[in-house]
Amino acid sequence: MTMTEMPAEGASPVLDVRGLTKSFHMHHLGQRLDPFRDVSFAVGQGEFLLLRGPNGVGKSTLLRTIFRTCLPESGAVIFASRRGAVDLARAADVDVALLRRDEIGFVTQFLVARPRVAAEDIVAEPLRRLGRPASEALEEARHWLSAFGVKRDLWRAYPTTFSGGEQQKVNLARALILPPRLLLLDEPTASLDAGARAALVARLAELKHAGVAMIGVFHHPGDVETLIDRVIDLGRKEVSDVAV
Ligand SMILES: Nc1ncnc2c1ncn2[C@@H]1O[C@H](COP(=O)(O)OP(=O)(O)OP(=O)(O)O)[C@@H](O)[C@H]1O
Ligand SMILES: [Mg+2]
Repeated sequence: MTMTEMPAEGASPVLDVRGLTKSFHMHHLGQRLDPFRDVSFAVGQGEFLLLRGPNGVGKSTLLRTIFRTCLPESGAVIFASRRGAVDLARAADVDVALLRRDEIGFVTQFLVARPRVAAEDIVAEPLRRLGRPASEALEEARHWLSAFGVKRDLWRAYPTTFSGGEQQKVNLARALILPPRLLLLDEPTASLDAGARAALVARLAELKHAGVAMIGVFHHPGDVETLIDRVIDLGRKEVSDVAV
């Protein structure tokens, strides 16, 4: 499918995806699967793009390709980083790792929990890395754990044993404690209760206001309806320019 989307006039794109094509070669079956072909769109500061389409159409694969967990067959993923433009499809692994640490956030349904690290330390880590005093970082981490509804008893516990929803809340608190330049969201509300969903939408609104560019897949797009600027529909040939 071919699609072209540009950010609102005057906005400088944070991400410019050009002619992106991804194929999976399933050698054992002698088959090739093309989740998406020649996809182009751009997203500017403070813009929220909803990515949608039926199951298996390639939404997660597209986000993973932007995050460079997947390599595309062809096309470019130009990211205007704070240190200049970089094609994420071609950048060195070490540069991609730095960008993931400092500028590009990715929230999926799965927590990358490390053994024997307390929930509050996982959440505080991005602030500590910036040199914030330990007590201040911890206080802010607790604020976000509380905002997403993680019970106080769990703050010092290890999230490896948490329920799916509790893990997701820790995940969100850590991923959203600082505004990244680009934020990718893959069904972040899937295992959340109503309170956490509301807290997430409130935080995303703040981040949008702060200029974060966002691309998200949402099981219930109604949750984020007020934030959506444009929709990329991977299941259709044409692209709509209006929200849901
Ligand atoms: N590593 C892989 N190897 C082979 N095929 C894959 C691989 N990863 C994904 N696929 C296939 O690519 C297609 C797109 O998958 P993807 O997970 O991107 O879909 P999706 O749009 O996110 O679906 P859902 O709404 O169910 O989350 C699927 O048919 C899937 O089976
Ligand atoms: Mg998916």
